[in-house]
Amino acid sequence: MTRVVNHGMVLNALGTVSDPELHYDIVTLNMVRNIAIQGDDVKVDVALTVQGCPLHQKIEQDVRNAVQKLPGVGEVTVNLDVMNDEERRTAFSRAFQQSQQKKTAHEGPAPAKPAAPSQAAAWSPLLAEDSRTRLIGIASGKGGVGKSTITANLAVALQRLGFRVGVMDMDIYGYSQGRMLGASGQALADDQQKIIPLDAHGVKVVSMGMFVKDNQAVVWRGPMLGKMMQQFFSDVAWPFLDYLLIDLPPGTGDVALDVATRLPQASLVIVTTPQTVAKEVAMRTADVAHRAHQRILGIIENMSYIPMAGGQRLEMFGSGGGEDLSRALDVPLLGQVPMETAVREGADQGVPVALAAPESEAAGVFLQVAQKLEAAARA
Ligand SMILES: Nc1ncnc2c1ncn2[C@@H]1O[C@H](COP(=O)(O)OP(=O)(O)OP(=O)(O)O)[C@@H](O)[C@H]1O
Ligand SMILES: [Mg+2]
Repeated sequence: MTRVVNHGMVLNALGTVSDPELHYDIVTLNMVRNIAIQGDDVKVDVALTVQGCPLHQKIEQDVRNAVQKLPGVGEVTVNLDVMNDEERRTAFSRAFQQSQQKKTAHEGPAPAKPAAPSQAAAWSPLLAEDSRTRLIGIASGKGGVGKSTITANLAVALQRLGFRVGVMDMDIYGYSQGRMLGASGQALADDQQKIIPLDAHGVKVVSMGMFVKDNQAVVWRGPMLGKMMQQFFSDVAWPFLDYLLIDLPPGTGDVALDVATRLPQASLVIVTTPQTVAKEVAMRTADVAHRAHQRILGIIENMSYIPMAGGQRLEMFGSGGGEDLSRALDVPLLGQVPMETAVREGADQGVPVALAAPESEAAGVFLQVAQKLEAAARA
């Protein structure tokens, strides 16, 4: 008996294909625009979340494989297009709903209700509508581009400009702010049973490192992770801050989605390297921010060059990535940070280079970026 392929079978098959970046299936994400069946042949129209999506080949191949596996299917054609704004908003909100459902499922029978974005204001006076604290997330597409190093240095640079600064290390698994800012110690509670942030060179720091012993790996999943950001606000006795810098994990995973959705008032700085491929991945991070109506203050290009004798610059990782990205997103390039041994040493020793070696080229750039941030945040 020959089986005739039908719409439902194709849709079910497509439900097994995940968007490699958002980690939800493409049907849930509203990426399947149309399925056309003619005889045995199947044509699927897929809308990608962003133009020039670097993972489009993988998505196309996965769609093709999933449909081809169905019995009775002849030729499979996959057409790729790009979502419009409305489709993107739907995709983003569905991804968020799914992430909430996943957490709820982990939490068992009496889950805490996820807070709506507006409820976040109840977590902390820092988030009240009239709060003067500027929240800035430091984000990137790729890992290892220097987000944490830049967060630590901007924190001390803003501090040098006379501002009260806090750092929230939202990189739960890869926490590094304690080490980079030289703030060690376990979490202590005040008489209100709130966690007292650590103090590092005058900067207030909260990081997962305060809650684990001896640098153990963090193994919490789902529910703990989902509540982390809320607790980092509600359970911490933050003093008044002019700036709260939020060090984000790389990519557009659960934490980045949480921050984008629950803290739309937070603006972002996107860190990239001069390579074009880093730029493309960073575009996806920017896309999530746009969908959540978060403001992008600008781009910082890191590891731009190695300063050489006589003022020469060795461009180890190529050039132009930061400028391209700033043009593509129509936001300023806030600075280009050179690659210097002092930057890494400062991070390893817990005294950011902006403080340890203020005469260094990198420290100069951090100070300038801090000034531009202040101007941009005020605008
Ligand atoms: N401008 C620089 N010059 C020299 N070393 C640097 C520079 N920027 C970052 N590094 C080093 O590169 C490494 C990665 O930096 P960092 O941990 O800040 O990246 P990240 O983007 O936060 O990484 P992850 O995605 O894992 O959180 C660190 O060892 C850091 O000291
Ligand atoms: Mg980091």
